[in-house]
Amino acid sequence: MPDGSHGSGRSHWGSRFGFILAASGSAVGLGNIWKFPYITGEYGGGAFVLVYLGCVLLVGLPLMYSELIIGRRAGKDVLGAMRKLTSHCGDMGKDLSGFAGMMGIASGFLILSFYSVVGGWAIHFFWVSLDLIPMAQGGADETFGALAGSWKVSTLWHTVFMALVISVVARGVHDGIERVCSRLMPALIGILLILLVYVGFTGGLGASLAFLFRPDFSKLSGEGALEALGHAFFTLSLGMGAMVTYGSYLKSDTFVVRDGVWIAALDTIIALLAGTVIFAVVFAAGMEPGAGPGLVFVTLPDLFAQMPGGQAVGIGFFLLLIFAAWSSAISLLEVVLAYFVDEHGLSRGRGALLIGGAIWLIGVGSAVWSQVFDFLDGLTTNYMLPLGGMIIAIAAGWLIKPEDRVAGFTRTGGAGAFLATAWLVVIRFVTPVLVLAVILYKMEIIRFE
Ligand code: PHE
Repeated sequence: MPDGSHGSGRSHWGSRFGFILAASGSAVGLGNIWKFPYITGEYGGGAFVLVYLGCVLLVGLPLMYSELIIGRRAGKDVLGAMRKLTSHCGDMGKDLSGFAGMMGIASGFLILSFYSVVGGWAIHFFWVSLDLIPMAQGGADETFGALAGSWKVSTLWHTVFMALVISVVARGVHDGIERVCSRLMPALIGILLILLVYVGFTGGLGASLAFLFRPDFSKLSGEGALEALGHAFFTLSLGMGAMVTYGSYLKSDTFVVRDGVWIAALDTIIALLAGTVIFAVVFAAGMEPGAGPGLVFVTLPDLFAQMPGGQAVGIGFFLLLIFAAWSSAISLLEVVLAYFVDEHGLSRGRGALLIGGAIWLIGVGSAVWSQVFDFLDGLTTNYMLPLGGMIIAIAAGWLIKPEDRVAGFTRTGGAGAFLATAWLVVIRFVTPVLVLAVILYKMEIIRFE
């Protein structure tokens, strides 16, 4: 089958396992290794983790199914799929789902532009940990300040990162994405396990596990709960059609329930392992966990420098960060590219270069002006993903035809029917309401004093 072609010769994953690795590669990213640990640190640990796990189950998984079902059933890019499965609806339904599709493509475009800048920072720190770029006199703080403050250096690494992403996506779903993710994901898990064994000897492991897994509900705030819910979206790559697009390369008889559980479980386990490793390092050094967004780039490199064998740990850690960011960035570009390939007949190779180039250009804006970075980050993760997720939930729960809806649950007999009903109740009523709460909170309409 010609890979990357459109129309009847549309590409497919080589195996179910390959699909799970690619989709969990999308899910496991900077959100797991960089963001999850620092927000957990800021919101007080165990109780936040518990709420986050609840959000993954109650909102994340149901939405993951919705996206996979829509993609698999339609066999098209996110906009094409949303249009196809709601073509029998009235104008309002059609417009709403078309809007979500377009917003998904725009989100992929915009998120990748700044995500790539952060991916580039990880490459810079990888070179620093190899000692190929010297650490600044003032340590990681100064090194990071100089990096983020120099648009030239940031742009250089952003360019390298985008080139890595484009080169994989251009080669197609099977020969590019699946093949690379099938190597990156096992490598990533391997590195994480080695780091875990290492921190077992540093003395911080017990404190780290207690911090992450012993809930202290007095520390939990409403703000933390909504942050956990918002993060569940980002970390599972939901709300913009990444799972619709990846689901569309499944064979049409694939049973998606088990795969969804695998993807969410891998994502969650890897976030928890990364948190365990990072906080063990932090506690072993007698530091506080609430360092904020600078945790990975500012706090950790200094701590690595002080640890015995720390150089190897630093190299492993930043390689982990690069791999995680890379496989996620691939899915962001694929959402946009699939649209141009499926709907406009653009060739995959040319499209990857053109669209990747345009994304690169916007990304330079984020590398030059931190305001652009912050604006795009806030706009996409706070508003576009939740809004997209809400509409996808509404489309899956209310708009698409019942036979399209249950298709992903068949082949399980009685349990399938029960699961389908439970899922339908959640996706119709619970998910949209909870997601609306996140949006209102981000818009500061819901406040916690
Ligand atoms: N899930 C990725 C992460 O955790 C980010 C992402 C969001 C990727 C949306 C694709 C789509 O870093």
